[in-house]
Amino acid sequence: MKVPVDRRDALDAAADAIVSGVFERGEKDDTLPKGLAREETASRGLISAAWKRKEIRGKRRELTVFHRPDGRGRIVLVGLGARGRFEAETVRRAAAEVVKALKGKGARTVAFRLPSFCADSVTAESAARALVDGATLGAYEFVKYRSTSDGGVEEAAIHLGEELGREEALVKKAAADELALAETVVWTRDIANLPADTATPERLAEVARGLAKEFGLKVTVFDEKKLAEMGCGGLLAVGGGSAHPPRLIVLEYPGGSRRGRTVAIVGKGITFDSGGISLKPGARMGEMKFDKCGAVATLGILRAAATLEVAPRVVGVLCCAENLPSGSAYRPGDVVRTFNGKTIEVLNTDAEGRVVLADGLAYVAQQYKPDEIIDLATLTGAEVVALGDDTAGLVTADERLAQGLLAASALTGEPIWRMPLTDFHREMVKSDVADVRNSTEIPVAGMLTAAAFLETFVGGVPWAHLDIAGPAYTNVLTRRWQPAYQGVGATGFGVRTVTRYLEAAPPRS
Ligand code: BES
Ligand code: ZN
Ligand code: ZN
Repeated sequence: MKVPVDRRDALDAAADAIVSGVFERGEKDDTLPKGLAREETASRGLISAAWKRKEIRGKRRELTVFHRPDGRGRIVLVGLGARGRFEAETVRRAAAEVVKALKGKGARTVAFRLPSFCADSVTAESAARALVDGATLGAYEFVKYRSTSDGGVEEAAIHLGEELGREEALVKKAAADELALAETVVWTRDIANLPADTATPERLAEVARGLAKEFGLKVTVFDEKKLAEMGCGGLLAVGGGSAHPPRLIVLEYPGGSRRGRTVAIVGKGITFDSGGISLKPGARMGEMKFDKCGAVATLGILRAAATLEVAPRVVGVLCCAENLPSGSAYRPGDVVRTFNGKTIEVLNTDAEGRVVLADGLAYVAQQYKPDEIIDLATLTGAEVVALGDDTAGLVTADERLAQGLLAASALTGEPIWRMPLTDFHREMVKSDVADVRNSTEIPVAGMLTAAAFLETFVGGVPWAHLDIAGPAYTNVLTRRWQPAYQGVGATGFGVRTVTRYLEAAPPRS
């Protein structure tokens, strides 16, 4: 997506579509795109008539398209709802709805009139960022395996007009930063959407090597031989049933400031989760190619951190394995020894994410002594039951991490909700034969017993856990209720929020 920022009013532009946001009609009639009165009496008449006939109401998700009588493309009015409930997320969704509606209709260039997307509650800077997100992510489609394409919006210009002319520098910087982020989300989605026959653990390692080369990062890949020497029994057990052996992938971005803290990001990278010997039911099992989304988001976060040159040093750890049943698969009843020597009693081979994360968390805690660890994992079905398909579960005892991540989430519109971790959950994961058990076999608080399990591997480092099982991909059953910018398949959830968290991370104390 190209996103030029222009001082002019969009109406002067030669765009295929000019887009204005309209609020539900209030006391003030601000609904006619500025400039129309002078130039286009005909358009003005059409739009006024449509308001009068109540064809336009300014409701959310309402789109009205006019063809300019002089043949200079379209004018699109997108509803923003009530002024009192207006926020950046409204703009993000509206922009996505516009680019989606214009798909396949020959509109390559779109110009958004920025002033019409601003209000007391939404500054020009945050409206511009939201337009960039909405247009870029809303236009996204996974096209790798398709032989035909309808062609969509390729350029989403932001026009400041007279009202915002003085904000040009601010808006330019905001739009450029957000474009870097949104393009990284697109990159992340393209990898996360790959099927499991292609996106094997070794293939993810190749992607990491390519990323490291392009952005000057340090990369280390531990193969199955090395993992055995290191004592990473969790990764080896989970990956044991697959012909594609496990990999632990470590990426390092040195940080833009010597005073920056070290933040470790750890991702669950199960390239396919069949459940293993504790086999999942067949219905919708194909979705389990998305069980690598935490690891792929970790790649995206490293890419964005390097592009935006954030201050902290960032260490990314991808715990990659394929969970399949076979004669060499791990089984219920097995006890595995992990990197830090702690042992896990396996009661359910489908609770494999925590088993691979055990090695990754323990490794990064010991080798890098980070100031904090954030993990991202499509960890539990219980997260989806508790919070639905749009919201991630956040578990942390660290107040600064909690507030930092919640503040970042408020900026990006990626919803996260903090959940508690208590001794009740910690007691539940204790085992009679090992240090911890990977399943409680009792269906209560599954998201939190999983978190209690992970906590035993972070070595006391301040840590936040993001269970992204719901929002990592748009589920076919619930996608009609998702915002238009989430699309079909992998969403890249977490990349924008964690990166903005890193951008705001305070220096080392
Ligand atoms: N990958 C799944 C969790 C999941 C479910 C992700 C739905 C995305 C959508 C995970 O490995 C799993 O199967 N967890 C089990 C744990 C249980 C056996 C203790 C679950 O949640 O049922
Ligand atoms: Zn599983
Ligand atoms: Zn899984």
